[in-house]
Amino acid sequence: MIVYDTITETRSFAERTRQSGKTIGFVPTMGALHEGHLSLVRKAKQENDVVIVSIFVNPIQFNNPDDLKKYPRTLENDLNMLAAVNCDAVFNPSVQEMYPEKVEKTYDFGELANVMEGAFRPGHFNGVAVVVQKLFEITLPHKAYFGEKDYQQLQIIKALVKIEKLSPVIVACPISREKDGLARSSRNERLTPAMRAAAPYIHMVLEEARSLSTAHNAIQIINFVVAKFSDHPLLKLEYFSISDGETLQPVSGTIHPGNYGFIAVFAGEIRLIDNIRLI
Ligand code: PAF
Repeated sequence: MIVYDTITETRSFAERTRQSGKTIGFVPTMGALHEGHLSLVRKAKQENDVVIVSIFVNPIQFNNPDDLKKYPRTLENDLNMLAAVNCDAVFNPSVQEMYPEKVEKTYDFGELANVMEGAFRPGHFNGVAVVVQKLFEITLPHKAYFGEKDYQQLQIIKALVKIEKLSPVIVACPISREKDGLARSSRNERLTPAMRAAAPYIHMVLEEARSLSTAHNAIQIINFVVAKFSDHPLLKLEYFSISDGETLQPVSGTIHPGNYGFIAVFAGEIRLIDNIRLI
């Protein structure tokens, strides 16, 4: 496995790979890798000749400076994990390498970016889109892999590909969960033992919401979920939304096939998100 830290070397590796007729699968990450990331790499390995993974904690997608400062950084461990799943190349640039100048680019994702994560984390999706477009230009992937835990991000990336006429095929990968149901996330590492023990409650409530959704309307389900968190000692609900899986716009009446429940919860200062297809 080769590790590059410059754009020039990575791009020339990608160009050589393409010139030799091989396909490239790309998995963008912010490091602090876990089994969820590895499942994306394994899928990328199955579907492509060569897999490139980027490890870059992208400062411009953090709306909260403290979250950026405390984001886990575990490079040595990440590289060992990637070598073990036969990743071919890693791109691990510095902030200066990626952003030698102030980033001015802004995208218009319309209503897709104004709800849920977009509403609670201003500027987040613009920062994600800037880095993903740049990473695509460096790694030249045929296919790029994104997890459905960040479901809204996935829809934004699909919109980015359309708006900017980018070539990679976007491959959506199912949420990877711990045995107790907690969605895998790099931020889970920051949970205290008590919070970690409490956190599977999020997925449990989502499952309950799903089991109620054929017989109840969206407002009833939302009230149910809000009540489930109202006096929880460790978990504080930020939002629960029932939304269409394509447009991400909120649903208030009958729940239809393709509607999802989207949730954001604070465990202390650690923000966890999850989602479930309701019908
Ligand atoms: O999902 C993530 O880890 C990040 O948002 C991504 C796609 C690597 C962009 O920084």
